[in-house]
Amino acid sequence: MANHLHQSFLDFTFVTPPRLIFGWSAATDGRLAIEAKRFGKRPLLFSGKTLRDNGTLALILASFQSSGIPATTYEGIPPEPTVRDLQDAMEGVRKSGADMVIAIGGGSVLDIAKAAAALAQTESLTAADYFAARASVPDSGGLPIIAVPTTSGTGSEATWVSVLVDDSGEGQPRKASIRGGAMMPVMALLDAQLTVTCPPTVTAYSGMDAFVQAVEAFTSKGANPFTDALAFEAALLTANNLRTAFAEPSNQSVREAMILGSYMAGVALNTSRLGLVHGLAHPIGAITGAAHGLLCGLLMPAVMRFNQDAARKKYERLATTLGIPDGSEGLIAFTERLLRDIKIPTHLSEIGLKEEDIAYIARESLPSGSTKANPRPVSESDAYSVTMDCF
Ligand SMILES: [Fe+2]
Repeated sequence: MANHLHQSFLDFTFVTPPRLIFGWSAATDGRLAIEAKRFGKRPLLFSGKTLRDNGTLALILASFQSSGIPATTYEGIPPEPTVRDLQDAMEGVRKSGADMVIAIGGGSVLDIAKAAAALAQTESLTAADYFAARASVPDSGGLPIIAVPTTSGTGSEATWVSVLVDDSGEGQPRKASIRGGAMMPVMALLDAQLTVTCPPTVTAYSGMDAFVQAVEAFTSKGANPFTDALAFEAALLTANNLRTAFAEPSNQSVREAMILGSYMAGVALNTSRLGLVHGLAHPIGAITGAAHGLLCGLLMPAVMRFNQDAARKKYERLATTLGIPDGSEGLIAFTERLLRDIKIPTHLSEIGLKEEDIAYIARESLPSGSTKANPRPVSESDAYSVTMDCF
């Protein structure tokens, strides 16, 4: 792929799911089952626990049954999935004999399902080979993937990225992403009704992930006018609606705005990439087990301060359109108020991080593609001091 991060002329590759279905109750009212027929006859449906517990999975399976394509299920993916969980899922896909994968869940379910669908057929290679970069994810092939998010957050339904934890080696567990064309869904279906049952913390954390991803995609070194159009609107949608989604969980139009915003941020970041918040959130998440979106929110004001000179024009554009006074300073203050209102902690010490781990985190954040895309170049001591600011 062209290196689009360090040049002044436009040079980028934009890839996105070719089909998008957006509609309240589209996952359960039969539309998902009808749409799925375009891509296969024997779907394997990856699902999270909440979907089983609240009865939604039963509704979805019934709609597949009545459409004449009975689906089998793959369940039991933990919140922070590991390389071993991916290996299990790859074997699950092989054993199922499925000709397509439908992923319905939060970021973890989507990430595992996408990687398993893309990699299951490569018999001799293990999940660990891909994770350790001994093999790269193919650009195409694998099973078709339909992605249906149940949270408004990661935007995984729009990307060819899968984030996993590797806890197999010595020392600290590592969190990193694998990327590749075969993981790009053939279709995303956005049904905001699925997000209504999210507990308030999930709404807050995933929604904050979406907001941060929108702003980081908008200001990243890999941004261009095409991704800006998506990331800017995604930042407005999430900034204007997250507080209400948290306070009024069943507000339909607000839930719709959030799921659309998180999707648009995902579409943008797949090309533009992100920034230092995501570079730091992965090692901190791997060590503490804290929710990804919580960490993104917690780190955001300090990273915005660090980026203020490099990203000022874009922060100001956002502030002006959001009606926030005082430009980039105002946008930082807005973010801090939002974090308080949706009850996201503001210090890493509150979530159990130890000060002695910060040097390791700073070191680990540097090779990340997100850190490399940050609008201001980041040294190890920069990463250290930004993390200390959040301690
Ligand atoms: Fe994220």
